[in-house]
Amino acid sequence: MRARRSSLRPPAFWTSTWVNDLTARPIVHFTIVTLFPEFFTGPLGCGLLARAQERGLVSFSLVNPRDFALDKHRTVDDRPYGGGPGMVMGLDTLVPALESIKDRGETVLLAPSGQPLSHGLAQELARMDRVTLICGRYEGLDARLGEIFPLRSVSVGDFVLNGGEAAAMCVIEAASRLIPGFMGHEESAGEESFSTGLLEYPHYTRPEKFQGRGVPDVLTSGDHAKIADWRRKQALWATLQRRPELLASARLTTQDMAWLTKESERQGRTRLGRNLYLALLHHPVLNKQGQVTTVSLTNLDLHDIARCSLAYDLGGFFVATPLQDQQRLISTLCGHWVEGRGRQANPDRANALSMIRLAKDLEEILAQVEELAGKAPRIFATSARNVGETGTGDIRALLETEPVLLLLGTASGLAPEVMDRAEGCLRPVRFLDKDNHLSVRTATAVMVDRIVSDTL
Ligand SMILES: C[S@@+](CC[C@H](N)C(=O)[O-])C[C@H]1O[C@@H](n2cnc3c(N)ncnc32)[C@H](O)[C@@H]1O
Repeated sequence: MRARRSSLRPPAFWTSTWVNDLTARPIVHFTIVTLFPEFFTGPLGCGLLARAQERGLVSFSLVNPRDFALDKHRTVDDRPYGGGPGMVMGLDTLVPALESIKDRGETVLLAPSGQPLSHGLAQELARMDRVTLICGRYEGLDARLGEIFPLRSVSVGDFVLNGGEAAAMCVIEAASRLIPGFMGHEESAGEESFSTGLLEYPHYTRPEKFQGRGVPDVLTSGDHAKIADWRRKQALWATLQRRPELLASARLTTQDMAWLTKESERQGRTRLGRNLYLALLHHPVLNKQGQVTTVSLTNLDLHDIARCSLAYDLGGFFVATPLQDQQRLISTLCGHWVEGRGRQANPDRANALSMIRLAKDLEEILAQVEELAGKAPRIFATSARNVGETGTGDIRALLETEPVLLLLGTASGLAPEVMDRAEGCLRPVRFLDKDNHLSVRTATAVMVDRIVSDTL
């Protein structure tokens, strides 16, 4: 062992009252590998974490890779191979530092590229006996560390910190509070944000009136069933408003869904889909030989894309063809379902097909969208070929403020002259797979759902 001092021995600032040695067998022991052990003095020495150490629920030890450096400058980093800015933490100190830890348990490397820290991951770590947390500094660590030790990379968010110490504290805080007995009253952790897959309901405390503001009556009613119902609804609503994507995997009852539907309607939620317009073009498109052509309409496309437009509450669905007999066919078809006998038989279909607006070409569609939306739309093409670089998230972000027209091709896809009119092309559905040629109606449903999902 070439360490200058025992890495498990606390540094001078570390007071023995709140750093256990390993004799007490706590429920979880965290070993923190860090170049800045002093960083942890405050966070581990106060509040619930300090109490949990006193009660033997958690314990901590620190290992400083610098203690394993052999040169007089105690060097732990070097320049990156291949050039570039910054320094990289080297294996010659990291490896002996990790080897000095008797029982590393789950070894977590804090890294922006890691698995996102979540309630689920915190629960997993809270069940471990030993967790080792490696805090990077500089540009990061030599990648071969992951070949030498099994590492689990964990990120605390899509941003870059100066070092892994603050990230390690996030892991410690999130996992420790889930250790049985940590919170004092067990139900606390069970009701918090994410424990049910939802955000938490709002809290209030005394005084009951503050600067003229009261608290919701139900909370002072003493009726526990009503309070629980109110809190559930507040949690559902907060999640729909602030983190709608969480609803996709939250455990929702049919009553929850019915209430959310009613409440959304009552509150007149603005729907992002309203700013999205679809244009199905039958000309100019490419045939199998790659020549520009005009194709006939497909009844199924009109029905299915119209139904999709209605279901996702889109701004409108335009169908363009320059051929007069095809235009007449669309009018006859829509006439039957929207005004004729089809309407009596199937009013839902009438609502869907009334979304269809006929146009002779893209120019006419653009004029109509501008009139409806009050401003010219941003135009994006779609293609099954790997020509698109725009993500569905980019379109979703635009919809917050801009009308967007999505161009849908028939036959073998949109002709180059139409592609050129668009500012971008959406990445194809299933771009990793070669057999990704879906019907335009199927591809449209997938793209629209990825853009606005169930809740936007
Ligand atoms: C300046 S950062 C290095 C960033 C790295 N060059 C990159 O672009 O991903 C130094 C160290 O901080 C820690 N770190 C920074 N951001 C983090 C995050 N979001 N989650 C977890 N650890 C993070 C990591 O340990 C990382 O090695």
